[in-house]
Amino acid sequence: MKVLLGVTGGIAAYKAGDLIRMLVRAGHHVRCCLTDAGSRFITPLTLATLSGEPCFGANPEYHEWRPNPRVEHVDLARWADILAVVPATADIIGKTANGLADDLLSTLLLAAECKVLWAPAMNRAMWGHPAVQKNIAVLLGYEHHVVYPASGVLACGEEGTGKLASVEEVFEAIGALGSAPLKQFTGKRVMVTAGPTHEDLDPVRTLTNRSTGRMGIEMSRAFRDAGAAVHLILGGELPAPWGIDTIRVRSAEEMLNACLALWPDMDGVCAAAAVADQRPERFEPQKVKKQDAPETVVLLRTPDILAALSNARTHQWMLGFAAESENLVQNATEKLSKKGLNAILLNDISQGKGFGDHDNCLIPITRNGPGGALGPVPKNQLAREAVAWFANHLEINPLKD
Ligand SMILES: Cc1cc2nc3c(=O)[nH]c(=O)nc-3n(C[C@H](O)[C@H](O)[C@H](O)COP(=O)(O)O)c2cc1C
Repeated sequence: MKVLLGVTGGIAAYKAGDLIRMLVRAGHHVRCCLTDAGSRFITPLTLATLSGEPCFGANPEYHEWRPNPRVEHVDLARWADILAVVPATADIIGKTANGLADDLLSTLLLAAECKVLWAPAMNRAMWGHPAVQKNIAVLLGYEHHVVYPASGVLACGEEGTGKLASVEEVFEAIGALGSAPLKQFTGKRVMVTAGPTHEDLDPVRTLTNRSTGRMGIEMSRAFRDAGAAVHLILGGELPAPWGIDTIRVRSAEEMLNACLALWPDMDGVCAAAAVADQRPERFEPQKVKKQDAPETVVLLRTPDILAALSNARTHQWMLGFAAESENLVQNATEKLSKKGLNAILLNDISQGKGFGDHDNCLIPITRNGPGGALGPVPKNQLAREAVAWFANHLEINPLKD
């Protein structure tokens, strides 16, 4: 992919170097355009060296190189598959939202017909200012995309929202926008559940399981990259992926409520969460002292989320996951028919497999029986293969009205 990276005059400009390295390492072709103010924070030489291309900029000495004797701001804008401004100052955001073009980057931004991504970074009061928020809303109205700033201690020493999102998140957003996806789920609204749930005994003690949520998060990314508008209902601690509307939940009950609220507007669900099957009968509002701790705890069944969705189903498809440690295919097939799923992805978790960051493999099962195994490959690739397989399955077995 051809990435044109605009770098503007903020402290976070130094992070552009890390981003270029990640992009180049991933095989992307990167060219940089640096504003005058940006060149006070990072040198054109750094950007040129890391990208392996001359660095373009407002200062004439930085844009002598031309691919041909044509018009640079148009040529460069046409060259790019995506124009990402990282970091983006309040100034460049304001200029573009108002149609101003007084240097190369702002001119490129108006000339661009490719996807445009903004990664703003500024002081928290600047970011919260209604003028900046209004400008961001204008850019979103032009179908530009935003990687929102993070919260924390800012370079100025103040605390709040305004620091550049992590380089990893910006990298993901560029990849997601620029990928040439299969787009089988374009226009579809897909709900994905992921992660463990926590069933609390008291404010410090909890019942949970070994799921991290990685596989479900990768499924949500794969559906997003296949064109779907994805709603992720997420338990656990992993960060939410870019471009996915994420609701964080803790308990099975919270997950159920979030799912039921979304369900009527969805086209389907991919249920990858490891929902706790039981919860303590009682939640103690104060921490229980060691000497008062009971030796036995009464557990109650948590709500069955898939069964509830199945009961409330009108037109939606349902894709489930089965984590099984024995009688793998038989148990997964039983779950498939009991819950009325369109398909189920069987995850073999015997001997600790399937958890965490390792490569994984899945066996897709439909009412016609198991198909060929997907993987073992890293979970991000596995999720893409699973979504492609499922799209194919839905095509062969379209939903009945
Ligand atoms: C030390 C310093 C740090 C700055 N950091 C930021 C910043 O993080 N975000 C921002 O929007 N502006 C910041 N500014 C202000 C911009 O540099 C200024 O608005 C400049 O005109 C932006 O030009 P550009 O958008 O063409 O790069 C900073 C200024 C200085 C002197």
